[in-house]
Amino acid sequence: MNDVFYITTPIYYVNSHPHIGHAYTTIATDVLTRYMKLFGAETYFLTGTDEHGQKIAESAANSGIEPQEFVDKISQEFRELWPHLHIEHDQFIRTTDSKHKACVQQILQKIYDQGEIYLKEYEGLYCIGCERFLDEAELENGNCPDHQTPPEFYKEQNYFFRMSSYQEWLAEELKQNENWVYPGRYRNELIQLLKDPLQDLCISRPKSRLKWGIEMPFDNNFVTYVWFDALLNYASALDWPDGEKFKKFWPHVHHTIGKDILKTHGIYWPCMLKAAGIPVFKKLVVHGHWVVGGSKMSKSLGNVVDPLTMKDQLGVDALRYFLLRDMSFGEDSNFTEELAVTRYNGDLANNFGNLMNRSISMSRKNFQGCVPPSGKAGEQEKELHESFAKGVQKFREYIVKFQPHRALEHVALLSSKVNKYIDTCKPWTLTKEEKDRERLGTVLYTALDMTRIIVGLLDPVMPKKMCEARKNLGLGEEILPFSSLSPGLLMPGTELPKPSPLFPKMQVSHADEENVKNQKQEKSSNNSAPEENEWIAIDEFQKMELKVGRIKSCRKVEKSNKLLCSEVDLGETRLRSIVSGAAEFYTPEEMTGRQVLVVTNLKPVKLMGYISEGMILFSDDNGKLVLIEAPEHVNPGVIVR
Ligand code: MSP
Repeated sequence: MNDVFYITTPIYYVNSHPHIGHAYTTIATDVLTRYMKLFGAETYFLTGTDEHGQKIAESAANSGIEPQEFVDKISQEFRELWPHLHIEHDQFIRTTDSKHKACVQQILQKIYDQGEIYLKEYEGLYCIGCERFLDEAELENGNCPDHQTPPEFYKEQNYFFRMSSYQEWLAEELKQNENWVYPGRYRNELIQLLKDPLQDLCISRPKSRLKWGIEMPFDNNFVTYVWFDALLNYASALDWPDGEKFKKFWPHVHHTIGKDILKTHGIYWPCMLKAAGIPVFKKLVVHGHWVVGGSKMSKSLGNVVDPLTMKDQLGVDALRYFLLRDMSFGEDSNFTEELAVTRYNGDLANNFGNLMNRSISMSRKNFQGCVPPSGKAGEQEKELHESFAKGVQKFREYIVKFQPHRALEHVALLSSKVNKYIDTCKPWTLTKEEKDRERLGTVLYTALDMTRIIVGLLDPVMPKKMCEARKNLGLGEEILPFSSLSPGLLMPGTELPKPSPLFPKMQVSHADEENVKNQKQEKSSNNSAPEENEWIAIDEFQKMELKVGRIKSCRKVEKSNKLLCSEVDLGETRLRSIVSGAAEFYTPEEMTGRQVLVVTNLKPVKLMGYISEGMILFSDDNGKLVLIEAPEHVNPGVIVR
């Protein structure tokens, strides 16, 4: 790996507001940059906005304001969004910056002076959405395949860049350099595109048709084509040709892009660089698209996902985790709130959160609030150490190969391994006798130490949550260096403060209740005995506290067709409030007065504004819930065994 690493996002069009797709590109870039930093590279992370061109001029006109005022407003929205998503870029560039405009003009002049830009009469089909002329062969039923709208026919004089003369060079570069485009199938796509003759690129718009652009330095009747302007942001941001940043970071360039802009970045851009005498970038990193309900996000379908709403529902870091974990890098992926909550509960609440909570709580309780000393490592510890030593290397390889989904899957696996280790070693059975104390210390120390390594690996994805996690482990706020992510480096005796719950379990929202119910029905209709690996040990069952309760009163939960809230007598000094999804099967009157079975040691949760401090048990009779009742004469609070 280089020790200098320049990584960019595409610059975003300001004709529409930021959505989850833009957020994904930027979060993925932020995460990759943070990992490179963690692995010791010096990094520079650029993002920004693309503000010229026909579609932006049209959007401004439709809003009834001047283009400059319009682009200022939306560019600001992007700029203000990023810190909310824990993005830490080094620079935010705008194509309306005067420094950028001067750079574009300088490069155009250079290529023009070399005789590689010429004027000619041209006619063609222009897609405003793509801001480029399309070949007939690209159309689907006469429409642009990406925007599903017919392109417009233009016949006009324009300037052209002799891109065709770079065809052979580019084909050879692609052939020679297997790692130039990741994932490899996008490289194949580019190789395929180059099998047809490369056309010269139309790089101007007559001012009579479009004024909102950078003027051609050699002819003030024209402005430059938006892609020629936009792509050069990557070089102008670093002060090409002789700025300090340019000298330091070019050509260690990694461009993160979505698959829709592969042709512009994989064909136009290297040819432009070659013509300008600038070394070509190191890598194109291409991701797929988030689709919603199987369809492309679009205003007309009303399925555009707002990243801020999602952030409020899930929390920023959990949103970042979900986006990186659930999309196989390079492929398309479906976005639903239910998938996000399921991933959160599975990986973060039940797996990693649980590991952290229980190892810290047991250590605090049994070792005066501190990290215990470790006794001699046995076979189980050695095995775990080995998995982690190999796992950290594997993790790094996945990241360097731009496979964050695999890297995170691997961490989830490591976390499950530690949970399993705790389940097998059963530290709660080692707390009574002095002879077990050394073993208790070893198990808890190992669990905490492995948790520390996981925290270090997850830091770039969830920077704020992992900072809290470090505090919970008594480690302070500083990021853990990558070199410290190996077993045995946690200091015994470190004080463990009372932990803040990092990932409390989350409920699927009202809109998703139906899906969850359907899934539950599928599960309940499975009549076969559990597989061997699904058995649980008696002590796991005994962790659950079951009691008889009497429902004293019950009411419907506002704005929900499914939920009831009961006040339940459990023989305690106060009644407990418990929410159940039974409103379709029982009225509040039918619930009141019943003797029921209640799980009483579940962590309280808030459901649609109501606190639920336990769970009333029902049998699931083909989707119909039926209360499991206790005999009348048993007193509330009696334990069920
Ligand atoms: N302005 C050009 C890029 C110029 S770079 C020199 C542009 N802008 S864009 O705003 O339309 O798109 C920017 C990025 O957002 C692209 O990488 C695109 O793939 C990404 N996404 C837009 N919709 C997306 C999804 N639904 N899912 C994931 N990313 C998507 O193109």
